[in-house]
Amino acid sequence: MTTLVDTPVRPHPTGPFARPRTRRADRRRWQDGPTPASLADLAALTREVAAEVETGRHGVEVDPVHRWARRLHADDHLDVWLISWTTDQGAELHDHGGSIGALTVVRGALTEWRWTAGSDDDGTCPAEELHARGPGLRRRVLDPGHSVSFGLGHVHDVTNRAVETAVSVHAYSPPLSAMSYYGVEAGVLRRTRSELVAPGQSPE
Ligand SMILES: [Fe+2]
Repeated sequence: MTTLVDTPVRPHPTGPFARPRTRRADRRRWQDGPTPASLADLAALTREVAAEVETGRHGVEVDPVHRWARRLHADDHLDVWLISWTTDQGAELHDHGGSIGALTVVRGALTEWRWTAGSDDDGTCPAEELHARGPGLRRRVLDPGHSVSFGLGHVHDVTNRAVETAVSVHAYSPPLSAMSYYGVEAGVLRRTRSELVAPGQSPE
C-alpha cells in the first residue's frame, strides 16, 4: 500500500508541452507510443522537476510504513509524481499498460530489475540475487541524477535497497490507466494479474 497525497493539479510551466515546438521535435512526436510526448521529453521533464525538488520547491515526506507519493501535475497527456522510498520499499514486477514513462532519481539510490527476454545479468549483480530472480532480468542501480525511460512493454520493478531514503520523480504519458504484474518461472515471464489504475492513483 502506498501513502498517497494528491496536490491540486496545476499546469507545469516547464513541461514538454510548454516548450516551443521545433521541426525536429514535431518529427519525433508520436514515435514512442500513443502520445505526443516522446521518451526523451519525459526524461527531460523528470530531470527538470527533480531539479525543482532539490531547490525545495516541492516538499518531500517519508512514510516508513507505506511508500509515499504525491502527484505534482496531471493533464490529458501526462502525469508527474514525486515518490519517496525508505529501505526495501518497492514495487512488484510490472508494466505500465499503454503508457510510456521516465524517472529521475533525486537522492538516494533505486535498484531497478528489468525484463530482457533471454538475457543474463550484465555482471554487476551478486550471484545469489541473480539466482533468486532468474535469467532474463537485469539489474541496474540508479544513482542521483540518473534518468531512465520506459517504452511500451517495459517490465520492471524498482526498490530502494539502500539505507538512505530515496526520492524520485516519475512521469507517464498518457497518464497510467492500467498495469499488469508478472512473475518469472524457469526463465519465462508470466503475467499474474492486471489492474486498472484510477486517475490520481499512485503509480509503481
Ligand atoms: Fe514502473
